[in-house]
Amino acid sequence: MHRGTFITFEGGEGSGKSVQLHLLAEHLRASGAQIATTREPGGTEIGKEIRRLLVEGSKDKFDEITEILLFYADRRIDLTRVILPALQEGKFVLSDRFNDSTIAYQFYGSGKFADTGIMDMLYQTVAGSLKPDITFLLDIEPRLGLKRSFDKAGTMANKELRFENVDISFHERLRNGYLQMAAKEPERFVVIDASGSIEEVHAAIMREFAKRCKL
Ligand SMILES: Nc1ncnc2c1ncn2[C@@H]1O[C@H](COP(=O)(O)OP(=O)(O)OP(=O)(O)O)[C@@H](O)[C@H]1O
Ligand SMILES: [Mg+2]
Repeated sequence: MHRGTFITFEGGEGSGKSVQLHLLAEHLRASGAQIATTREPGGTEIGKEIRRLLVEGSKDKFDEITEILLFYADRRIDLTRVILPALQEGKFVLSDRFNDSTIAYQFYGSGKFADTGIMDMLYQTVAGSLKPDITFLLDIEPRLGLKRSFDKAGTMANKELRFENVDISFHERLRNGYLQMAAKEPERFVVIDASGSIEEVHAAIMREFAKRCKL
């Protein structure tokens, strides 16, 4: 059993996960809470190497099984080195993407798997019965999210556009997949309309956070 609170941010590109994680983290820190933050893939030093393998280069450089194994290798390292120790210390752990991203992209988005069996089996192996306490799903019309991503990409060195290079129907499948997952686990998922301003989305997250957590 852990004593901390595990919060994940999910959603498509440009939905605002990183910005909103940062704002919640700042709020928690200012309130004196103990927190740890991570991201997947790439929350640890070894994870950064795995992230580089996954995001750089041709999008078909790995077959789908190899790719899945790399995601779960990254997740295992993140869990054992960052997430579980912090939860055991009673911290809030905020993760920028987690297992739902793998299901959304590799199952619903890519369509290369008939079911989620391999992901479920690997999740059980790397995480056991651990589940996020709260998952904020930042839901946005894919074109709006992608527009934000491309605007951002214009201002930074751009090695990580692999997933953005795929067609809009992929992003529609991804969004619908996330919404289906949220419908299956309404206790864990909080669906947030991410189309408003950064401040509006943050306020919505804080309202839902306050319903579920005491500081
Ligand atoms: N509500 C918002 N309104 C307008 N712009 C936003 C909003 N939220 C985030 N942005 C901007 O959109 C870009 C993408 O936001 P962010 O990086 O947080 O998205 P993300 O979900 O983490 O994307 P990725 O999946 O690519 O990591 C950033 O430049 C950010 O400043
Ligand atoms: Mg991000």
